[in-house]
Amino acid sequence: MATANNVDLAEVPSLDLMSELLRRMKCSNKPDKRLILVGPPGSGKGTQSPLIKDEYCLCHLATGDMLRAAVAAKTPLGIKAKEAMNKGELVSDDLVVGIIDEAIRKPSCQKGFILDGFPRTVVQAQKLDEMLEKKGAKIDKVLNFDIDDSILEERITGRWMHPASGRSYHTKFAPPKVPGVDDVTGEPLIQRKDDTAEVLKSRLEAFHKQTKPVIEYYTKKGIVGNLHAEKPANEVAVEIQKALSS
Ligand code: AP5
Repeated sequence: MATANNVDLAEVPSLDLMSELLRRMKCSNKPDKRLILVGPPGSGKGTQSPLIKDEYCLCHLATGDMLRAAVAAKTPLGIKAKEAMNKGELVSDDLVVGIIDEAIRKPSCQKGFILDGFPRTVVQAQKLDEMLEKKGAKIDKVLNFDIDDSILEERITGRWMHPASGRSYHTKFAPPKVPGVDDVTGEPLIQRKDDTAEVLKSRLEAFHKQTKPVIEYYTKKGIVGNLHAEKPANEVAVEIQKALSS
């Protein structure tokens, strides 16, 4: 039996079909949620996103991951974004607003979404509000990964990534089972081009100048939950649970 997407369901293993069915049944009871994760580089947004995504059946939209994929594929978007990213500067509002506008329409975002790394400027936040207003929707919560800059260099320079899945490791805080190798696929891990102490300085400057006002923008709307992002990852996860149930 072929579906609209030309997938022959008879060819999909029963175990996969069953687990997808169970996932959908579990998700049908979950309330819709539209969340934003905001914080400086290395504050733990990408680490916590998969946990929130699974718990609340949301899609995870990380503009940094999307832009890196576009750079790797040398698409017109990637060609435009590459230079700013390598320097630790923000890419233009129009580029990122366009990719988010398209991405939130995906069926996997039906129960809501986690925006990780977006919006990063007040203009992006205003455009997002306009996009959601048209759909009769709004942001439910903004999780602010509050952390002192001094903690971030060790986190950023010790990070290793599995580019295909976005899984991230840390040589000290979250080491892979075998150094340099992804636990799940056995594929090699890489370090991001912008994960150097030097580029981190520009990324932090961009955060303080352009993204801190975004936190003020949502604070005025009364929807910000502040996290102690310097704590160990499991303790931050507990704070997130509390913030999302209030
Ligand atoms: P992006 O990819 O979004 O990078 P970022 O915001 O700088 O965030 P990171 O991915 O570096 O940090 P994270 O908070 O996810 O940390 P993680 O959980 O991995 O953006 C990259 C670039 O793309 C930007 O500079 C810009 O050019 C462009 N861009 C993206 N979005 C844009 C937008 N909206 N507008 C314009 N330009 C945009 O954690 C880091 C490390 O610490 C890991 O190794 C992890 O294992 C470890 N760790 C995590 N939590 C803890 C903990 N609690 N304790 C100890 N270690 C921890």
